[in-house]
This record gives sequence, C-alpha cells and structure tokens, in this order.
Amino acid sequence: MHYKRSPQHYFPILFFILLAGEPSVLSLQGRIDPAWIRATNPQACPQQCDCPIQWPTAIYCDQRGLTDIPHQLPERTQYLFLQVRKIMTFFCSQRNNISSLSLFLTNVTDLRWLILDHNQLQSDKLEQAALQNQTQLCYFFANNNHLRSVPNHLPAGLKQLRLAYNQISSINPGTFNNLHNLTLLLLQGNRLQTIAGGELKGLVSLTLLDLSWNLLSSVPRHLPPSVQQLYLSNNALSILNDDIFAGFLNLKYLRLSHCGLQSHNIPSEVFNFTSLVELDLSHNKLTAIPTVPTTLQYLYLEANEIQVFNMTSFCREVGPLSYSRIQVLRLDGNKMSYQQLPPDWVFCLRVIESIYL
Ligand SMILES: *[C@@H]1O[C@H](CO)[C@@H](O)[C@H](O)[C@H]1NC(C)=O
Ligand SMILES: *[C@@H]1O[C@H](CO)[C@@H](O)[C@H](O)[C@H]1NC(C)=O
Ligand SMILES: *[C@@H]1O[C@H](CO)[C@@H](O)[C@H](O)[C@H]1NC(C)=O
Ligand SMILES: *[C@@H]1O[C@H](CO)[C@@H](O)[C@H](O)[C@H]1NC(C)=O
Ligand SMILES: *[C@@H]1O[C@H](CO)[C@@H](O)[C@H](O)[C@H]1NC(C)=O
Ligand SMILES: *[C@@H]1O[C@H](CO)[C@@H](O)[C@H](O)[C@H]1NC(C)=O
Repeated sequence: MHYKRSPQHYFPILFFILLAGEPSVLSLQGRIDPAWIRATNPQACPQQCDCPIQWPTAIYCDQRGLTDIPHQLPERTQYLFLQVRKIMTFFCSQRNNISSLSLFLTNVTDLRWLILDHNQLQSDKLEQAALQNQTQLCYFFANNNHLRSVPNHLPAGLKQLRLAYNQISSINPGTFNNLHNLTLLLLQGNRLQTIAGGELKGLVSLTLLDLSWNLLSSVPRHLPPSVQQLYLSNNALSILNDDIFAGFLNLKYLRLSHCGLQSHNIPSEVFNFTSLVELDLSHNKLTAIPTVPTTLQYLYLEANEIQVFNMTSFCREVGPLSYSRIQVLRLDGNKMSYQQLPPDWVFCLRVIESIYL
C-alpha cells in the first residue's frame, strides 16, 4: 500500500466503506494514491476517474479538468463525483468545467448521488431527460454553478437538493410537486426576490430550507409547514407580519441575522411560539428584546442597538415552573452593560450557561 498523505485518514475511510457500502468522503484527493487504485482494481473505470476497489459503485472524477461527464461510465455507477474543491479554483487546468448535464448518464440507471459543485452548469444546457430516469437518485448537489432556475423533472425519490450560490431567480410552479421525500433544500446565495404560492408545493417532508443571501424583501408566505430549520439571513426584510410564522408548527431553528430588522417593524408576538429552540437575530437594528417563548434555548442578539433589558421578553411571570429555558444569550455589541440587568434576572433566566454582554 502507498500512502500519499495523512495515513491516519486511510484506515477509517476504508473501514467505513466496507461496513456501510456508502461513501464517507466526497473526494479521494490526497487520501489514496490514484496509481494504487488503478493497479488494484480490475473493473472498468473511465480513464479520467478513480474507482476504488473497496467500493465498486463509486466513481471519483473530481478536480480533473473535465468539460463533460465521462461517456464511458460503467453501468454499475451509483455515486458519481464531479465536483471541484473551492481551494482548487486557482489551478484552472485542474478544474472540472462541466456546463451541461449530458445524456452520458443514459446507460447508468442506478445513480444514487450526483455531486457537481463548483462547475459551470447552465440552465439552458440542462437536458432535462438526463435526470428524469434516475429513479434511485437521492442526492443532487450543484452548488456554485451558473444555474438560473431550479431544474425541472427532478426524480421523485430525491432527498437532498443543494443549489446554493447559483443565479437562480425563479422556480417554475410544479417543480417540486412530486418531491415528497425531499428533506433538505439549499438555495442560499441566489437571486430569489419572492416565492409564490405553488413554487415549493409538494415538499411535504422538507425539514431544512436555506434561503439566506437572496433578494427577498419579506418572509415568503408559502413555505412548507414541515420545515424545522429556516434560514433567511442576509435578505433585506423590512417588515415581519404578525402571523408570518404561525403555520410552522415544527419550526425549531430560525435565522434572521443581517436582515435590517427594526423593532418597530416586528410585532411583539411574532417569535412567541413554543416549538422554537434557537433564534438568531444578530446584526440587525433592534432597539428592544422581542418577546420569546419560555422554551427558547439559544438567543443571538449581538450587534443590535438594544439599550434596555426587559425581563418580560423572557418571563411573563416567575414561579416554580415558569422560567425561561435560555441557555445561551448573546447581547454583546449592543448599547447595554451588565449593570443594567435587573437584580432578579437569575430567577427568570434560571438555567443560563452563557450570557454575553
Ligand atoms: C469552460 O469551458 C468553456 C467551453 O466549454 C470555455 O469557454 C470556458 O472558458 C471554460 N472555463 C474555464 C474556467 O475553464
Ligand atoms: C449505452 O449502451 C449502448 C449499448 O451498450 C452503447 O451502444 C452506447 O454507446 C451507450 N451509450 C452511452 C452514452 O454510454
Ligand atoms: C427514460 O425512460 C423511458 C421509459 O423507460 C425511455 O423511453 C426514455 O428513452 C428514457 N430517457 C432517457 C433520457 O434515458
Ligand atoms: C419515498 O420514501 C419512502 C420511504 O423511504 C419510500 O418507500 C418511497 O419509495 C420513496 N419515494 C420515492 C418516489 O422514491
Ligand atoms: C406567548 O405564548 C405563550 C404560550 O403560547 C402564551 O401563554 C402567552 O400569552 C404569549 N404571549 C406573551 C406576551 O407571553
Ligand atoms: C417591558 O415590556 C412590557 C411589555 O412590552 C412593558 O409593558 C413594560 O413597560 C416594559 N418594562 C420596561 C422597564 O421597559
């Protein structure tokens, strides 16, 4: 055996692969010598790719300078890696530069993962049929490409769709109609201005939705109610409506940092719902602490303009069972000091572990 680098990485990976049959790494670069892989695996493998013998269904073609999906893909292919690591972007000759999702996937019918991050994938060069028949596909990653819309005709069994940092400005109604198993949708770093009624319809299992770094001017009304983690940071949200989170009975983690929020545009009850575990309102223009449910555990309010600590935000009353479950409270970077905490704050914030002021 030949170790190219970090031999300590080597054994855990293979051990994991042998046990689970699924990849535990997205790249073999720097972990296993390609010459060794080629020497030990007699199975067919596209010339530009690495096919580790321990794991015959995985084809690693990442960081190669490919301009298309290799056309001699073995039919056994289930896990296909064509991504570029961000750190490699200086070395253009090494980069994959795939611009279309080609029909070279035609003979591969058992594809489970397709990883295409940091390529040049373009919406108008997406041959929709290329993915349509991949009924086993559960991960499709195309972060950091040039997509202008979410691809249509995605396979119905998809569990994760990662399309962060593209140029997506619209979602065609009906795109997600059949994607009942999708649990994770990443759309941060795109150009979405709004999300209309039918656009996310069908996502009945979605638990994580990342819409940070878009051009939203309000919290979209029609998001799937199953969502547990909703990330909306870095959008210019001027106003939050009273009932905007009312339909989200499962919402636990809400991120709204860097949104330009002002206290007078936030209704006092808007965050007062008991499913909430973590709330990030840092880097806004709040002058008061909003009312939060007593069940909240993590509250981030750093870098706002808060001047008073009003205990009724956390505790409407204090008693044996009425107290705030806050564990971490960040108030640093506000216009407040420790001396401003009311003397009895510890009776309300009874289980606090860290407070930053
Ligand atoms: C990617 O390939 C296209 C042609 O397929 C070419 O025009 C473009 O310059 C290439 N980009 C990079 C970064 O290599
Ligand atoms: C698919 O398989 C057929 C029959 O083996 C072969 O002729 C064809 O070239 C293959 N197509 C691709 C895109 O690999
Ligand atoms: C998809 O499957 C259908 C039905 O099996 C077939 O007619 C069609 O040619 C396939 N499309 C592609 C792009 O493989
Ligand atoms: C969705 O997931 C369920 C449960 O794992 C599975 O039975 C079903 O076949 C999946 N749907 C599709 C379209 O793959
Ligand atoms: C907040 O929610 C709790 C629990 O649903 C409720 O009892 C309370 O009246 C609400 N409003 C305020 C200001 O605490
Ligand atoms: C704290 O907030 C409550 C409810 O918004 C308000 O009635 C009360 O006057 C505030 N107390 C202080 C000291 O600002």
